[in-house]
Amino acid sequence: MTTLKTHGADAAASAPAGPAAVLVENGDRTAPTRRGASGHAAPGADDPGFPTASAATAAATPEPRTSTAELRQALPLVTARGLEVAYDDAKVLDGVDLDLFPGEMVALLGASGSGKSTLMRSLTGFAPISSGSVRVAGHDVINLHRGQLRTLRSDVGQVFQQFNLIPRLSVMTNVLTGALHSAGPINLVGGFSREHRRRALELLDRVGIAHKATSPARSLSGGQQQRVAIARALMQQPKVILADEPVASLDPKLADSVLELLREIATEDGIPVLVSLHVLPLALAHSDRIVGLRHGEVVVAGATSQLDAAALQNLYDDEEHGDDAHE
Ligand SMILES: Nc1ncnc2c1ncn2[C@@H]1O[C@H](COP(=O)(O)OP(=O)(O)OP(=O)(O)O)[C@@H](O)[C@H]1O
Ligand SMILES: [Mg+2]
Repeated sequence: MTTLKTHGADAAASAPAGPAAVLVENGDRTAPTRRGASGHAAPGADDPGFPTASAATAAATPEPRTSTAELRQALPLVTARGLEVAYDDAKVLDGVDLDLFPGEMVALLGASGSGKSTLMRSLTGFAPISSGSVRVAGHDVINLHRGQLRTLRSDVGQVFQQFNLIPRLSVMTNVLTGALHSAGPINLVGGFSREHRRRALELLDRVGIAHKATSPARSLSGGQQQRVAIARALMQQPKVILADEPVASLDPKLADSVLELLREIATEDGIPVLVSLHVLPLALAHSDRIVGLRHGEVVVAGATSQLDAAALQNLYDDEEHGDDAHE
């Protein structure tokens, strides 16, 4: 039997491990192997009840990229205006405006302490907003009660530097927890539904690691774990994805591949992805737009292809000490 207890929104704030949940598991359902659409061995060959990965997903050919101007003809899924956040009277965000449109990958840049993580936390109601307005996927973030906050957070897929998987649980179960994001306290007698398991495997195939479905998450490499975390975020069927330094723990090659995956998701699924990065060349290579923060203010904003390198470098002029040195 698998038992799951959710700890509520406040617990998630202190330990943002994707789903606000702790899973107690007495064993994964495992199954024999078959070849998935990725070409790797995937679980379930001899189990007629075990879902197969969708060949259609893997075979999809990406459409040509849509221009930023075209993307902007749609309504933004995220809109922040005049956003201010203060901790103990110290202003951390100071009048931030931000729009995220469907299908675009936006890189969030800035020196350490400039407010990148705080801006992301503001979008899910985890930061003390003192002024301004924030709308995310139709939610007025500042005026939500507890239940509405949970709905907001289920609409926002999150990816973190440290992956935040549950190490001893299987890759498959970690992905399945994404489906529980909006659930309250739950007792999973009988486990997850067949439809959930089918979707989880399909997503694992999409991110290229269906062959690891039954392996414990802790046995995977960093790049593979981040792919699991992305699949878990997709399991939520998010309307927006926030990725806070998702490649900071990965080597350059893996960093490229994870960012490519996130951008592909933005393009193919029409989900805006906001990704904070510390490495400027990665932002230049993998984003449609860049937003640069300095001391909590947006000082750079524009299409990546049109931004001036000097303006971007200026974000890091006091990198040695970080923005925290300017308190
Ligand atoms: N919970 C908190 N309580 C008090 N101050 C905080 C809190 N969270 C963030 N801050 C402060 O807000 C400022 C911005 O922090 P934030 O984590 O958003 O920066 P960042 O741009 O994400 O930095 P990094 O690149 O190092 O991750 C810092 O001065 C930080 O000390
Ligand atoms: Mg940060």
